[in-house]
Amino acid sequence: MFYNHLKSLQKVLPIGSLIACFLSAGCVVYPELAEKGMKAPKSERCGDCHRDIYNEWKDSPHAHSFTNTAFKEETNTYQFAFCLGCHAPETIFTDKRIEPRSVNLAEGVNCNSCHLNDCKLSGPTAARGPHPIAEKNQFFRTSEMCGKCHVGTFRTWQGISTAEDKKTCQDCHMPAIKRKLIQDDPWQKIYPKREGKQHLFSFQTLFNQNEAPLQLSFKKVTHSDGKIEGSLELENKTIPHTVPTGDYGYREVVVTIELQDEKGQMRECKKESLFVEMKTALQYKEKRCIPFCFNSDGDSYSINATIIRTSFNKDTNILLAEAKYKL
Ligand code: HEC
Ligand code: HEC
Ligand code: HEC
Ligand code: HEC
Ligand code: HEC
Repeated sequence: MFYNHLKSLQKVLPIGSLIACFLSAGCVVYPELAEKGMKAPKSERCGDCHRDIYNEWKDSPHAHSFTNTAFKEETNTYQFAFCLGCHAPETIFTDKRIEPRSVNLAEGVNCNSCHLNDCKLSGPTAARGPHPIAEKNQFFRTSEMCGKCHVGTFRTWQGISTAEDKKTCQDCHMPAIKRKLIQDDPWQKIYPKREGKQHLFSFQTLFNQNEAPLQLSFKKVTHSDGKIEGSLELENKTIPHTVPTGDYGYREVVVTIELQDEKGQMRECKKESLFVEMKTALQYKEKRCIPFCFNSDGDSYSINATIIRTSFNKDTNILLAEAKYKL
């Protein structure tokens, strides 16, 4: 209500007056954005100003961590309070176990889950805004932060020697971008563009880069006596956790090697799955060979290999890498 009132005030008052108020004693215009308990704000409110970040977050897995079907089913429709802590938390800034929010649970891991720190909004840089902002906090730049919930993945990351040029979770899952932090008037007029991070929490964007994090290559392929033999080498070049990774949910990655005829029709096929639980996930820097042997009847062939992250019902399939061998 207060906020809507201000919004309409903005239309009547000159833009300058709100800004002047806030720039003079650092006056906090929206204290309710840092409320806890029943008064905790919806993340939509953050999206009024931080519009780009909000739009990225709302399509991210974090925004769906409470509503996704697998979580709903596994908790027997939200009966296990223990599970809600990491899936709809009030704030990760606690020394005790992370507690769930009292309201807006459907927002899953929302803005304040990660940014509400001791009744202020906290981030990695020194900033001045119209809501309570804490001192800059370098914790936001560390893998430990993600490790508050991604416990197993973080432990694997921690186990890798720092002598190697290992990246943080944010380096890969939150790509850098230069832009304004806010897209709403009047505030956006006084804040310049700055370095920031996209809130996609995905890995799809990584595969557009030059250096493929995962690589597939064919080794020692021979073609004689009606047989095509060889092996496919998988290499986890830069991902400082296993592929797949995670402690919860269904985690499967499928490698497919397909013999194809000229028209691209499949002749023969070999599949191998990598699972976290079976300890067959591909480790950091690991190279692994999968041998294959196909029958050939003399047509021209090619061999196609893919590695795909799949889901339990095989309805979501994300291509992680591919390779082709022309015979
Ligand atoms: C408050 C707990 C919490 C924190 C902190 C957290 N995450 Fe998550 N994350 C989750 C949950 C829960 C899911 C599962 C969402 C789903 O798929 O339902 C998830 C999912 C993900 C996924 C997608 C996984 C998939 O299967 O596609 C990525 C990537 C990810 N998080 C990266 C990060 C990074 C990077 C950080 C640190 C900046 C981070 N997370 C911090 C709880 C958290
Ligand atoms: C009325 C506009 C407005 C709303 C609504 C708003 N913010 Fe902000 N916020 C700002 C401005 C302005 C800054 C300072 C921007 C700058 O320095 O470029 C800021 C800065 C921040 C920072 C500091 C980032 C850093 O530099 O480390 C965080 C974190 C933050 N906001 C989170 C939130 C969250 C979470 C919400 C919702 C609960 C929210 N904001 C709602 C305007 C807003
Ligand atoms: C899973 C945790 C997580 C969630 C959820 C999250 N953030 Fe962030 N946010 C971060 C981290 C980590 C950084 C700092 C990344 C870095 O600098 O490497 C950050 C940075 C920021 C910044 C500083 C500027 C920038 O672009 O880096 C703002 C502002 C911000 N977040 C606002 C929001 C808003 C608004 C939402 C909800 C729409 C949100 N965040 C949701 C973890 C989160
Ligand atoms: C070098 C870039 C890189 C870094 C650093 C990195 N990841 Fe990943 N991450 C990836 C790629 C690529 C994938 C997709 C392949 C896969 O499924 O493992 C992925 C997948 C994931 C997934 C989805 C689960 C899955 O296997 O499908 C989660 C969750 C995740 N990462 C969390 C983290 C966390 C937490 C950290 C920090 C401890 C981290 N990542 C560091 C590149 C990275
Ligand atoms: C310590 C924090 C934490 C707790 C507690 C937790 N989860 Fe999760 N959950 C995660 C994270 C992080 C992910 C993302 C994938 C991963 O790393 O396993 C996830 C992912 C999931 C997924 C996969 C969602 C998808 O999109 O496929 C399911 C299902 C799930 N959790 C169920 C549960 C259940 C059931 C409980 C209670 C027994 C629980 N979780 C407790 C952190 C947690």
